[in-house]
Amino acid sequence: MWLPALISQRIADMQAKGLKLSAEDIYSVNQASLKDAVVLFGSGCTGELISGEGLLITNHHCGYSQIQRHSSVEHDYLRDGFWAMNRGEELPNPGLTVKFLERMEDVTALIVDKGVSAEDLIRQATAGGKGLKAQVESLFYGNQYYLFVFREYSDVRLVGAPPSSIGKFGGDTDNWMWPRHTGDFSIFRVYADRDNNPAAYSPDNVPYTPKRFFTISRAGVKEGDFTFIYGCPGSTQEYIHSEGVRYVAEISDPAKVDLRTQRLDIQSKYMSQSQAVRIQYSSKYASVSNAWKKWQGEMKGIAKNNVVERKRRYEAAFEQWAKGTEYAGLTQKLAALYAELEPYNFAREMYQETAGTVEIASLAAALGRAADEEARERVRASFYKDYYQPIDRESFIAMMTEFGRRVPAGLVPAYYKDKLAQHGSIEAWADEIFSGDLGAAAEFSNRFTGWYREEIYPQVSRLNAAITALYKDYMRGQMAFEPERSFYPDANLTLRVAYGKVSGYAPADGVWYYPYSTLKGVMEKDNPDIFDYNIPQVLRDIYAKGGYEDVPVCFLATNHTTGGNSGSPVINADGNLIGINFDRVWEGTMSDIVFDPEICRNISLDIRYMLFIVENIGKAPHLLAEMRFAD
Ligand code: ARG
Ligand code: ASP
Repeated sequence: MWLPALISQRIADMQAKGLKLSAEDIYSVNQASLKDAVVLFGSGCTGELISGEGLLITNHHCGYSQIQRHSSVEHDYLRDGFWAMNRGEELPNPGLTVKFLERMEDVTALIVDKGVSAEDLIRQATAGGKGLKAQVESLFYGNQYYLFVFREYSDVRLVGAPPSSIGKFGGDTDNWMWPRHTGDFSIFRVYADRDNNPAAYSPDNVPYTPKRFFTISRAGVKEGDFTFIYGCPGSTQEYIHSEGVRYVAEISDPAKVDLRTQRLDIQSKYMSQSQAVRIQYSSKYASVSNAWKKWQGEMKGIAKNNVVERKRRYEAAFEQWAKGTEYAGLTQKLAALYAELEPYNFAREMYQETAGTVEIASLAAALGRAADEEARERVRASFYKDYYQPIDRESFIAMMTEFGRRVPAGLVPAYYKDKLAQHGSIEAWADEIFSGDLGAAAEFSNRFTGWYREEIYPQVSRLNAAITALYKDYMRGQMAFEPERSFYPDANLTLRVAYGKVSGYAPADGVWYYPYSTLKGVMEKDNPDIFDYNIPQVLRDIYAKGGYEDVPVCFLATNHTTGGNSGSPVINADGNLIGINFDRVWEGTMSDIVFDPEICRNISLDIRYMLFIVENIGKAPHLLAEMRFAD
């Protein structure tokens, strides 16, 4: 996850591994470079330009909420897909933005030595340019500061999306897994004013002319091929203390997984009894299940790789080396702070996963915040559309039981104890909360929020601030301790470059996974009785004509990615687009804490599957005509 502006430090290694481009081709502020074809899509995904007329591609799961918003019973674009047959049919998405990186600059000296404020830097950087946005981000725990200047476009229209039975094929069953057969892409177009500048939506806007867009390679990938990824990884913690890792893998992940297993079981029980409830809860279920599944892979991976023990040995060696220096004793101090933080941090997480998930309490809180009756009516309408009270009630009982069991006794709020004493059981308390009048739910929300704000949050934030201050020194210490090692700054949703190669892996002893999947595998999974595996009939019909077995679908590579890299361009040695990143393999999800090239793999859509779907399912040759091909 290297900083693009410093890519010249990596370029020799990249070239040795197969890259045919120069550092300037990847990142330049003086001429168009690949960075100009990459955007932060919305608030947490990546997207890339694939035509000279503003055509942009990202994941289906990144465009999901836009596709959903345009869907109705008459036009169910989530179910059936959507293809604009001309520019006039492209659908605007108020609120959706894309940000192009104009430049990034090391401002450490300005901030630390000259005392310039981040606000001043941002003000200067954004003066006099349309759509300019800037932010100053700390890297390496405050040892470095970078200014990032973006140009933000806010007229971004939906152009195409496959049916969910292709774009989300495999659903939560296959999520985080290989072999994978998901056509996870959606297509948008960026619009600009007549001078190519950012502008709010207007029918007078015209397609944006990018400084640079990706050329697509249809040559395909093979084991060992060099690949790199440009994108916006959200967050990693590669340099943390063993106690931080132990907390994640042995305390936090197992508890959260248990709680979510219970909630998911309750949801799926009711979803399997009613089609209406299945529709209401499918998106909620997917988001609960995404992290639930990732955490299981993460805790297993950390245990299997002995990460806690390895970090402890590292810390012992560090302290041995640090004797008599300014870095001596840092790891012990960190351990002591982690011990102090643990009960509060755990209470915080248990609160979020229990009281924080009671839907009726969120409704009561949202109604409390709404300005007037009209706003309240909107809140109610959108809430009840996707609400099934028996799920919420059963979940409430399970989660409140767990809260009392898991949160350290001294930290349990008085309100919780009073309610149990008053009602005698959580079931009886649930009768009050779900009585129909929202008074008890509002009280529940207020009292829990109040407890969190007064008793938990101040401790968590004080201790975290102290820990971060120590990490600033410990990070510098690690760099001094290992002068030969190349350190990348932990991900923070800023643009990064990761590189690796196409590669299979061994998920377990005696098993080897090949790095590609094909349409044949889609057909092997196809089953009209299983929602996640029920492909559209049109795909079956095409396949039945014969000759489509080898259509490539997904591939694996060793690029280091994380949440936020979804939608990222996967690029070959010549700088051409070969795939779109969308996931990682389950056995390697500990890569947010420790990246192991033996087992950590990113999963990408093969760009040729996108072309196949646009042509055969979308029947949208005009989109293909806009794209540029290398071969
Ligand atoms: N696991 C991927 C990521 O973290 C994809 C999630 C969307 N897909 C799903 N089946 N829920 O975002
Ligand atoms: N699926 C993730 C995303 O949406 C990517 C990952 O976690 O590997 O960004």
